Amino acid sequence: MSLHSPWRADFPGILALETEHQTYLDSAATAQKPQSVIDAITGYYLHGAANVHRAQHVPGERATRAFEGTREKVSQWLNAPDPAQIIFTHGATEAFNLLAYGLADVFQAGDEIVISAAEHHANLLPWQQLALRKQLTLRVLPLADDGQIDLQQAAEVVGPRTRLLAVTQLSNVLGGWQPLARLLELGKAHGAITVVDGAQGVVHGRHDVQQLGCDFYVFSSHKLYGPDGVGVIYGEAQALKQLRHWQFGGEMVRSATFESAEFNPAPLGFEAGTPPISSVIGLGAALDYLSGQNPTAIAAHEAALHKALLAGFSQYPQVKILGQPEVALVSFVVDGVHNADLAHLLTEQGIAVRVGHHCAMPLLKSLGQTGAIRVSLGLYNNGNDLMRFFNAFDQALELLQ
Ligand code: ALA
Repeated sequence: MSLHSPWRADFPGILALETEHQTYLDSAATAQKPQSVIDAITGYYLHGAANVHRAQHVPGERATRAFEGTREKVSQWLNAPDPAQIIFTHGATEAFNLLAYGLADVFQAGDEIVISAAEHHANLLPWQQLALRKQLTLRVLPLADDGQIDLQQAAEVVGPRTRLLAVTQLSNVLGGWQPLARLLELGKAHGAITVVDGAQGVVHGRHDVQQLGCDFYVFSSHKLYGPDGVGVIYGEAQALKQLRHWQFGGEMVRSATFESAEFNPAPLGFEAGTPPISSVIGLGAALDYLSGQNPTAIAAHEAALHKALLAGFSQYPQVKILGQPEVALVSFVVDGVHNADLAHLLTEQGIAVRVGHHCAMPLLKSLGQTGAIRVSLGLYNNGNDLMRFFNAFDQALELLQ
């Protein structure tokens, strides 16, 4: 098992942090970017920024080509039938808000929205607020002890009143795959609109939205080694037609008078105003970068990191891991030790991990915790990073226990 990362040299950010003696283990919050992504973003500015879809001039056409090229690449990455089924937003959170506003008309009072107990606030609060506004019932699928959505209980919760089912593919706290195929099947069987939060799942392996069979799949670029400021919605063709326009302004409109307007369909009808052009171009470069790598080698490296991380933690009987992580994303607490104290001592030793409720307060509460520390690795992390983490962890525990 090799814990050398052949990709590390492609990521200047991780190398720069290393020279500062910082060990970056927070990729689930945001990932470092390969040089090619940084070059694509600076290239757009260095060679002449221009707006998209509006101009006939050369820089405008060039920007539009690159922007629409990313739509094509995203649609290939997800195996969407048509690039027109890919909507760019300013982030995954905005994507969920768009869906919650855009789908509001399909609900009638008394309808049910079903989410799971493992949801990030981004795939919880927009639905909760919609439910409050429209007198809908928000129901929550409970988790089994391993952190997976309990399918038996799900079969009792999802039913004919379920109008929408929104679940995560891989929780940002628990790091385990949810039984998505079975859940989506269940939702579909009752005619529910299905929404998948792929923000963490998209980072680990390729996912085929047609095979998944969901109506909407959401992810953000910045966790997938692309720039921040851009989120993606894939929508199934018929499901997209149910979306009501939500933000109004330039480019989303086909014709306008002072009295009324006619709007574009997806995707442009949902991309009002100037979009995040440089970030979308950067996302295209991230997908080019990932497409150029050997997926088997990446999967093997990630599996080796995951295994080594769990093996490291298994040496500490006082460590409690939340859920059963299946990727190198592990949240934990230590018996008798305050998360904040431990995080402080790790930070002092140059270890960058996330601490807190991870934007999933109800999940943490259901696990009997107020917070946890999370270690999350990217394809650039290596055995040395893990060694530094566990050395720092030892030092911190020595002081705290
Ligand atoms: N959702 C991101 C995380 O889990 C920010 O850290």
